[in-house]
Amino acid sequence: MVYSILRCPVCNSEYDINRSSYLCDKCGNILDIIQNDLDSFELSNYDGVWKYKNLIHPGIDKKYIVTKREGNTNLYKNFKISDYSGIENIFLKHEGENPTGSFKDRGMTVAVSEAMRLGFKKTLCASTGNTSAAAASYSSFAGINSYVLIPEGRISKNKLFQAIAYGANIVNINGDFDTAMANVRETLKKRDDFYVLNSLNPWRIEGQKTIIFEIMEKLEPDFISFPAGNLGNTSAFGKALMELKSMDKIKNVPKLIAIQAEGASPFYDYINGKMDKIVPVKAETIASAIRIGNPVNFKKAKRSIEFTKGIVEKVSDREIIEAKRIIDGSGIGCEPASAASLAGVKKLRDSNVIGKSDTVASILTGNILKDLDMDLKYNAMNMEDVLF
Ligand code: F0G
Repeated sequence: MVYSILRCPVCNSEYDINRSSYLCDKCGNILDIIQNDLDSFELSNYDGVWKYKNLIHPGIDKKYIVTKREGNTNLYKNFKISDYSGIENIFLKHEGENPTGSFKDRGMTVAVSEAMRLGFKKTLCASTGNTSAAAASYSSFAGINSYVLIPEGRISKNKLFQAIAYGANIVNINGDFDTAMANVRETLKKRDDFYVLNSLNPWRIEGQKTIIFEIMEKLEPDFISFPAGNLGNTSAFGKALMELKSMDKIKNVPKLIAIQAEGASPFYDYINGKMDKIVPVKAETIASAIRIGNPVNFKKAKRSIEFTKGIVEKVSDREIIEAKRIIDGSGIGCEPASAASLAGVKKLRDSNVIGKSDTVASILTGNILKDLDMDLKYNAMNMEDVLF
């Protein structure tokens, strides 16, 4: 039985999964994983991401699976979040609770397991920080060498610390994330000994689908919001919903809301400006995780927005900071980029696109300890202020 194949979403060319190039030989677009047997789906007896093994990598032998029990994250409801957004039924899905502190672990467990299955000894990625932390951790856990390309001086120290400590080979790139990503793509053209761990690897997308599977088991949301940068999540979430719908597991398809930072919003312009291609921008925002001006997954992401009749919104750095203060002050906490998720929902509620009785799931993509640059400028009090 062939459980999974690779297929080009643009020209429909098909390939078997025993190759490690994820670009279509005919048209160059990024391939999808197609699961051949969704109908006989059953849950496996793993916890977290691999509970959905039959929907993400049904054919892989257990002996290759590299897992640190990612997934199964909490869904929080808190009155401060409801008051701020003006939505009673808003839930925060906290992906910062994953082993390396971000949603990337869900995709990484699947992609690094596949690297093991294919017999790779080296992995490669470009990153704004979280991908590199997850790639370094999972690669080292599996006994593989990781190489991470980072925009020098432009990622959070905490994330860089993780990548170094987990044992990655750090390659400084004189430029931004988009330059680093372009370098990865160049390297892949010339070398076949590196296994790519960016979200142009479709196995990453398969793992990230499980965020949606978990939400849809607990809620029937009208909207699902999340911060959007390289558009891996946007791609994964739409694919998850298409599959759940095709299996008849859900009645209504929630609308996806992809939120970009104003200074890094080429996908917003592409969708809302009805352009036929994405126009790269020089990205600038305080939310370094989503400081991306040339997202690789824009075609699959567009399909997700179309399928769910979704929305692409943008928010200012000010709105991101304000939403972060509310999330942190509610005791939940997240990194700056994650707060775009709530900032965008508030903006759409204020303009009545989201109704006050709608149910909303907002995804917090990273942990509060991930990016401290912004948080260390606080107003400390003296002992006298507290006691007297
Ligand atoms: N939120 C956080 C905390 C992220 O680290 C990222 C992406 C995103 C949101 C955007 O997700 O790319 O799927 O649209 N970080 C990548 C990295 C690019 O290198 O860590 P996306």
